[in-house]
Amino acid sequence: MAVDLLLGLQWGDEGKGKIVDVLTSKYNIIARFQGGPNAGHTLVFNGKKHVLHTIPSGIFHDKATNLVGNGVVIDPVIFKKELDKLAEQDVDYKKSLLISRKAHIILPTHRLLDAASEASKGKAKIGSTLKGIGPTYMDKTGRNGLRVGDLELDNWKEKYRALANKHESMIDFYNVDIQYDLKELETEFFAAVKVLKSLKFIDSEEYIYQAQKSGQSILAEGAQGSLLDIDFGTYPFVTSSNTTAAGACTGLGVAPNQIGEVFGIFKAYTTRVGSGPFPTELFDADGEMMAKVGQEFGATTGRARRCGWLDLVALKYACQVNGVTQLMMMKADVLSGFKTLKVATAYKYKGETITHLPFNIEPENIEPIYSDFKGWTADLTEMSEASTLPKELNDYIDFLEKELELPITIVSVGPDRKQTIFR
Ligand code: IMP
Repeated sequence: MAVDLLLGLQWGDEGKGKIVDVLTSKYNIIARFQGGPNAGHTLVFNGKKHVLHTIPSGIFHDKATNLVGNGVVIDPVIFKKELDKLAEQDVDYKKSLLISRKAHIILPTHRLLDAASEASKGKAKIGSTLKGIGPTYMDKTGRNGLRVGDLELDNWKEKYRALANKHESMIDFYNVDIQYDLKELETEFFAAVKVLKSLKFIDSEEYIYQAQKSGQSILAEGAQGSLLDIDFGTYPFVTSSNTTAAGACTGLGVAPNQIGEVFGIFKAYTTRVGSGPFPTELFDADGEMMAKVGQEFGATTGRARRCGWLDLVALKYACQVNGVTQLMMMKADVLSGFKTLKVATAYKYKGETITHLPFNIEPENIEPIYSDFKGWTADLTEMSEASTLPKELNDYIDFLEKELELPITIVSVGPDRKQTIFR
């Protein structure tokens, strides 16, 4: 059976966790393929909010198997905290959680290196979540990394020590003021590794291959968003992995011709956390209202998210690079009460009108060109049928479907599992 993909089409925080949770009953296996604890996937059900960072969003379903793929980077300390929270909820994760031996481990010194690198950048900082993501992927591509499978070897601590020592000299090289007690961090790390080792490590590409062969359904869960992709995002203000569809192939070992549906998740407006260009960003009362109503604060760092109108130029680009087959629009409820809605349909770029994302999208070069839409006042949060959606929202949806040449099959009207309208 083909592997379906679910991806964010903006700068992350689109609501992927909620939709994976909603769709999980249709799948046997949910697999994360990139990113790590920089992600914060929020799920709400039975009146309770759950935030997952590294563990796939299918973990709350009894029957689903959850796989952390080879493309993911794992911080054992954060992973252990996630497991502890699951145990509090009586989730039997030992039975349903599998970890790829080829996934890379985030060391405490990776986190310190992230902090040192950001501090050294001053005003040009990326706005990283400081979870050690960049340095860990650097060690992966630099062929120095420590992998989950290494933890099964007798000499893994020697490998660890050599890498940590190298990191310490790199931290010195940055010559910035980073205070840390490595002994303390290591005590926590080694205890967490012990817990990690109590889980099932597998050769995940073989597992996925056999699962597909035997007819099991698989959903690959993306993290971050397409505009944070290391190749196609707003570089250098991106994360260090391929967040787009191709990342699922390398992050799980799935061949491109084995990909089925590609679900593209986007917010009815746009948000971004951290630094970097954001052409439709708002600095007015509309932006403040989106942030307030949408509770736009990072699930991982608690940082305020920047808010702005929907950017169709960027969204089209993301649909293209991912080969999206269906769209899912999140947080439509947040737009209730706006008199006029705007959607950027083109950019004025160095005096010309363009409809594609140029190489440099710095604010001084770009001015969005907007189309206006009449807003609606109805509260959507109690609605459960597509037929009850206000006409103005349907007009907004129709316009997007036409422009993007894709169906919007889900409209989300609140964070709860139940607040999901299928079209
Ligand atoms: P890093 O991946 O933690 O190094 O962060 C790099 C950039 O990606 C920063 O701007 C972060 O704010 C952003 N970022 C990383 N992970 C997420 C996410 O899950 N949601 C939204 N933004 C993210």
